[in-house]
Amino acid sequence: MADTASHVYAAPPPGAAADWTIPQHWEAFSADEHAMWDRLFARQTAMLPGRAADAFLRGIDVLRLEKPGIPDYRELNARLMAATGWQVVAVPGLVPDDVFFDHLANRRFPAGNFIRTPEQLDYLQEPDVFLDVFGRVPMLADPVFADYMVAYGQGGLRSLNFGALDKLARLYWYTVEFGLIREAAGLRIYGAGIVSSYGESVFALDDPSPNRIGFDLERVMRTRYRIDDYQQNYFVIDSLDELLRVTVETDFAPLYERLANLDDIAIADIVPGDTVITRGTQDHARNRAA
Ligand code: PHE
Repeated sequence: MADTASHVYAAPPPGAAADWTIPQHWEAFSADEHAMWDRLFARQTAMLPGRAADAFLRGIDVLRLEKPGIPDYRELNARLMAATGWQVVAVPGLVPDDVFFDHLANRRFPAGNFIRTPEQLDYLQEPDVFLDVFGRVPMLADPVFADYMVAYGQGGLRSLNFGALDKLARLYWYTVEFGLIREAAGLRIYGAGIVSSYGESVFALDDPSPNRIGFDLERVMRTRYRIDDYQQNYFVIDSLDELLRVTVETDFAPLYERLANLDDIAIADIVPGDTVITRGTQDHARNRAA
């Protein structure tokens, strides 16, 4: 059995380094655990042609993720490092915000070092190795997205000085976790929470329920989100270059100040100024609530 993450630690647990990393201990994953990866991988990659962003599909290829079993980070990191200078490091569970941002700023993605059980196939309370590695690492092989994540880590550390992490976290949520991108062939998914989810990879693109709105930095940072069900809004970027440019070129300090005096936007609201791509019926959320 590899280490199982069951709670959030206050300090690095025994066996973890000062930066909270632990050895992946790849040899310790059992045959059943590798088989779970293979099952999730097969189910997910079958969904992705015509749905996942080009950059994501390229990442799967470049990193040779089709090789069976939970990836051995020694091999994975050799490829990832060559592509963008990033690496994946194992951590025992969720880590504190400043630790997380420091890893990102230094091109290290901390990944949960356990894999879900068959009972947890579609619902997890914290990221496992499938979500963290299958969901996020392919995009980190893209040079532009790789730079965005570094800038986000630096920006995250900076946000702590402004007490504005809740606002900045929305940017992460609506891009890294649940982002959509417009490609020549149509809308595509790139957010890790979608590309790793069997249900949401269809819902996010095809369901009439959610709003799909053109990405606007301030709008996104005012918008609440839900963590307990499929999203009610997705924000669509025009390109990764544009996302990187606008976030790097904007000084967030005055933005945080402005946001402190603006109301949040309720989850499913469409507001003046929105570029509405799809106005959702919100039937999914309504049916869930009923
Ligand atoms: N430009 C942002 C700032 O001034 C930093 C940042 C870059 C944040 C990219 C998120 C993503 O804080």
